[in-house]
Amino acid sequence: MNDDIPVARRQSTPAKKAQSSVPALRSRLVLGLVLVGLVLLAGWGIEKLPGSQQAADPQVLEEAGQPSLPQPTVQNGRPSLLGHYAYSEAPADSLRVVGSYRGREVRLRQAAAESYLRMSEAAQAAGIRLVPISGFRSIADQEFLFFQLAQSRALRPEERAAVSAPPGYSEHHTGYAIDLGDAGFPQWDTQEAFETTPAFQWLQSNATRFGFELSFPRNNPQGVNYEPWHWRFVGDRHSLETFYKR
Ligand code: DAL
Ligand code: ZN
Repeated sequence: MNDDIPVARRQSTPAKKAQSSVPALRSRLVLGLVLVGLVLLAGWGIEKLPGSQQAADPQVLEEAGQPSLPQPTVQNGRPSLLGHYAYSEAPADSLRVVGSYRGREVRLRQAAAESYLRMSEAAQAAGIRLVPISGFRSIADQEFLFFQLAQSRALRPEERAAVSAPPGYSEHHTGYAIDLGDAGFPQWDTQEAFETTPAFQWLQSNATRFGFELSFPRNNPQGVNYEPWHWRFVGDRHSLETFYKR
């Protein structure tokens, strides 16, 4: 804290101190109070920012007419909700654009983005056109997906959780997960039949060379529906620890 105060104001001679000890004490007290106020305000502000790392508050959602979620539990030593693990949002400045889908930019964390672009080039050389459908998603994006779509399709949270992660619990928050399609088969984007496409066959044989793995294979231990389109980057220490550290 003291480093924030200019040196000239930190140093005072003993004579000066003796002359003005009461006003000096008073101004320090005022400065201290102002600093405490600023710290409290900053904490409050961060919590209220859209897309901050707070998961949706069940009470607030219920009051807003949204269905609430059950309380998180601990699975395999990690906070978990309806089979999905809790993840923090990637910092905005860590994200790079890897393409666009239906007018929306698709972004991944730097290391994952670089590796994805190399993988996409290698696929293209083999006659496969990978389509980046969805990369990083904020907690606010996921909240819309989870609750609005759940309501429009009349799905209960438990049903929706089999096909989508609750806000705060999506691998997409990390900036390491990407949904992929095959440009030759857009009708199978985010459909189980994506597994029948040349892109999926190619990914199965080649994605590990680029540090990508399928997050939700058939009968995965998390109980999440099979998602042949959803791949995650585990090719460096940070990404690996994000998904595997307990
Ligand atoms: N689509 C998967 C379940 C996720 O968002 O983590
Ligand atoms: Zn996905």
